[in-house]
Parts: sequence; C-alpha cells; structure tokens
Amino acid sequence: MESALESLRQQSLARIASAKTLDDLETIRVETVGRKSGALNSFSKDFGKMGTEERAAAGKLLNAAKQAIESALDERKARFEAAAMNARLESEWVDLTIPAPGVRPGSLHPVTIIQKEIEDLFQSMGFTVLSGPEVETEYNNFDALNIPPDHPARDMQDTFWLEGGNLLRTHTSPVQVRGMQRLGPPLRMIAPGRVFRNEEVDPSHEHTFYQLEGMMVDREVSVANLIYYMKALLAGIFRRDVTVRLRPGYFPFVEPGFELDVQCLLCGGSGCPVCKQSGWLELLPCGLVHPNVLRMGGIDPDQWMGFAFGLGLTRLAMMRYQIDDIRLLQGGDLRFLTQF
Ligand code: PHE
Repeated sequence: MESALESLRQQSLARIASAKTLDDLETIRVETVGRKSGALNSFSKDFGKMGTEERAAAGKLLNAAKQAIESALDERKARFEAAAMNARLESEWVDLTIPAPGVRPGSLHPVTIIQKEIEDLFQSMGFTVLSGPEVETEYNNFDALNIPPDHPARDMQDTFWLEGGNLLRTHTSPVQVRGMQRLGPPLRMIAPGRVFRNEEVDPSHEHTFYQLEGMMVDREVSVANLIYYMKALLAGIFRRDVTVRLRPGYFPFVEPGFELDVQCLLCGGSGCPVCKQSGWLELLPCGLVHPNVLRMGGIDPDQWMGFAFGLGLTRLAMMRYQIDDIRLLQGGDLRFLTQF
C-alpha cells in the first residue's frame, strides 16, 4: 500500500503543478481527495482487514498524503486567484489624475447681454428691477393703461387670448401698473421681459420678443428729466455720447407722447443706407405718464407726475450686433447663439 499511495501522491502533485485553470484544479480535487470518488478513498476500503497497529500506521500515511495533496491544491488555487485579480487590476485601471473634460461652457443670449447691461446702468441710478407675468389680465394690459375696450389703440397690439379673459401681454407696460401698486410714489423702476403679439412672422417681425419698460414717478418730473435718462441709457448702450430728438408719438398711456430718435451712429447724421438717408434712427417710444394711468395705479395725479419709456430690447440687440433676421434670435441654433 505504501508505494501505491506514494505514487498516487507524486502523480497528483505533478498534475496539480501542471494544472492551467481553476477548473482543472477542481477536477483533480474530485478525482483525488473527493469524498465519493476520490482515489484516496479506495485505500481506506482495506482498513477492515488490517490489525489495529497496521491500521493506525496506514491511516497516518493516508492522512499525510491527503494533507499534502490538499495543501498543494490550496496553494495553486491561491496563485490562480491572485493572477486573475492582477489581470483584472491591470485591465481595469483608471487614471484618476487625468483632468475631466468638463461641461461645455455656455454663452449668454445677445438679448440677455444687453438686458443685463441696462439693468446695471439703471440700478446704478437708483431704479428697481421688476418683473411681471407673461400671462396678464386684460385690465393690466389695456384698461389700466388708458386703453378702454372700444379704443382703436387695441388694434395696434393684437394678441393671443386665453380662456378666462387673460392674455399674453403685448408689452411690458402692465408692469407700470403693478409697479405703481407695489412700490407707491415716488418710484423708479425698470421691467425687462418677454412680450407677444399676433404677428405674421418674417425677417423683421416675431410673435415673441423682448422689451424693457421704464418708469419714474416723483413730485416734479419733466420732459427734460426724461431726455436726461434716455441719453444716459443710450450713452451706456452705445458707449459714446449720442444726439437725440423727440417727435410726437401716440400712446394712450402717455401725454405728451414721443418717439425718441438717435442721430445715426454710422454716418453721424449726414445720411446713409442704415438711416435711409434721414440721419436719424427711431429708437424708443416714451412720454409723460397720463394722469388716468397714475390714478388707476393708485397715485394722485395732482400730487405726482412721471415719465415712462418702452425700449425694444430685441430691436436693440439686432442693431448692436447687426443681426438682419429676427427669427435667428429664437431659433435655438447654437452656431448662431455662441457667437456673442
Ligand atoms: N408699450 C408701448 C409699446 O409696446 C411702448 C411704450 C412704453 C410707449 C412706454 C410709451 C411709454 O408699443
């Protein structure tokens, strides 16, 4: 028995040494030290025929062989597992020191750029920046601005009506009403925002565009004050002194009402294609606040007066950046938008 056991042991150790995979090892284990069909088992079958001493000696040999084979299996298995782990570590490593590619930086919309500049400018002159809702009441958009239901001026601003009598505001002027109610006199406010009109869309007309409303109410407010602030506004935007003129303009919520023109920035007034040879560019409507509007805003027109203006932010952005198609501004095309 001794020599048979020794040769099984040698044979098994040799097989273990040349095993290539964990599966190979498992097969060897089952065939040698496996409980049911392992080769070592066949040796213990003869134990019954042996005497006590002989059996003890044979048992010792058998155990020694079993331990030798099992520890060889374990050692080899541990090596295979370590090799597998190393292979995984090698194939899956990540260099955490490589800088991340990062988020692509965004850019401001041209209208937003101008809006922020004007907000800064007016805030520096003591104006509060307000915002009103895009869905307005008919009253705030029209009636409180001295445009009663049957007034022809309503036709100038056709809009989108919603259920329940509300509408998409056609201008930022309803924020005048909200501002008067909220702040009370004296007040200085501006209100940039999105407005809507039922327009046929073409290169110079959009159903959605941006305005910036301005209003000042105080004890004594004159056209001279209005001109002062408008010149400050335009000098800020165009970064140089500008020459302005007022022409009469009609808006039911101002009296007197004006169109403010700026002397053409390209030709300086001598006439060119941009100003259509007139020397002037029409820039913004404005005027002194109509007493009815003050009254409807809860302000006594015998005690207070004011001016108001409405700047077309979209139009201004188009002038500043020489954009010739208004539809580009809302088109969402990044090739266009990232240029500013
Ligand atoms: N709300 C007017 C418009 O959109 C512009 C305006 C504002 C005119 C303030 C005068 C004073 O047409």
